[in-house]
Amino acid sequence: MNEKLLSLRDEIKSKLNQTTDLIDLDKIRVAYLGKKGSITSLLKGMKELSAEERKSFGAEVNQLKTQAAQLIEEKIAELKEIEIEKEIASMPQFDITSPPNLERGSYHPITLVQRECENIFTSMGFTIEDYPEIVTDYECFEALNIPKHHPARDMQDTYYLDNGQLLKSHTSAAQNAILKKYGKKLIDNGTPIKAIFPGRCFRNEATDACHENTFFQMEGVMVDKDISISNLIYFMKTMLSEVFRKDIKVRLRPGFFPFVEPGFELDISCLICGGDGCPSCKHSGWLELCPCGMIHPNVLREGGIDPEKYTGFAFGLGLTRLAMMKYGIKDIRDLNSGNLKALSQFTDDE
Ligand code: PHE
Repeated sequence: MNEKLLSLRDEIKSKLNQTTDLIDLDKIRVAYLGKKGSITSLLKGMKELSAEERKSFGAEVNQLKTQAAQLIEEKIAELKEIEIEKEIASMPQFDITSPPNLERGSYHPITLVQRECENIFTSMGFTIEDYPEIVTDYECFEALNIPKHHPARDMQDTYYLDNGQLLKSHTSAAQNAILKKYGKKLIDNGTPIKAIFPGRCFRNEATDACHENTFFQMEGVMVDKDISISNLIYFMKTMLSEVFRKDIKVRLRPGFFPFVEPGFELDISCLICGGDGCPSCKHSGWLELCPCGMIHPNVLREGGIDPEKYTGFAFGLGLTRLAMMKYGIKDIRDLNSGNLKALSQFTDDE
């Protein structure tokens, strides 16, 4: 490279070394490589040279041009990196040792009772199952011995989707799947089916202090050889006295559900009015808490289990109602209100 070009390259290098910002850098780029830049005009001035000189000088100028462009690119990258570092340094620093400035959240009362019931039942050997909120007519009704046009469907009118599926009106909708899931272990190894499945349920309801269109239940099933109503009563009593931490009054009334035979309503005395009668208990002094019964042979059969060999119980605990009883909540509508002031009073650190 000839002297002139070499000194031009040194000049570019030293200017780049002194540059500390991208705007200046762009000025340098224009000064050398722009349309009127010194390297560009060198190329333009080659017209005056002889063909021989033009060839070698042209190659050298082009080499300088490439080198200059590369030096500028490198400088751009370097300056950009510095800018990013500066930006990071100027950002507020997160101090891991500073105390958090967050208000403490709280669990919804239904979550609290659900977890409590789950703990009690898992301690008695039950597994916890999850199940979708959108189910088929088969799961919610047909598999539960409730054929189409059965009057029992009136009590469980719910929300239907265009594709024929529906929002489950009770957690019993999972019974068939649970029987099928654990039936093989029962038949092959004699492992009893013991499962609870909490979930949100939906019904077309006229709402009042004790009815809501959205509520929570917790279903439980146990299937084995020789399961009887005594087993059912034992598990329900154990669970309820744990939840309320005292002996509470219960009563069993006959109740009809097509998927149990015999079927019962398990009531507990209203803890809000102590049994005198109030709007929450429809002035009866009792609250329907847990419909239950012995699983109907048709339901067992539909779940792949021989009703001649095995029996079982099922219950559908009203978690929403249980939460109302436990925490003295008078109106069911408060639970879905989203009123954090009201809902945050309940804690799990009793
Ligand atoms: N699924 C019934 C309901 O929601 C309750 C129930 C569950 C009854 C299990 C008997 C056995 O009305």
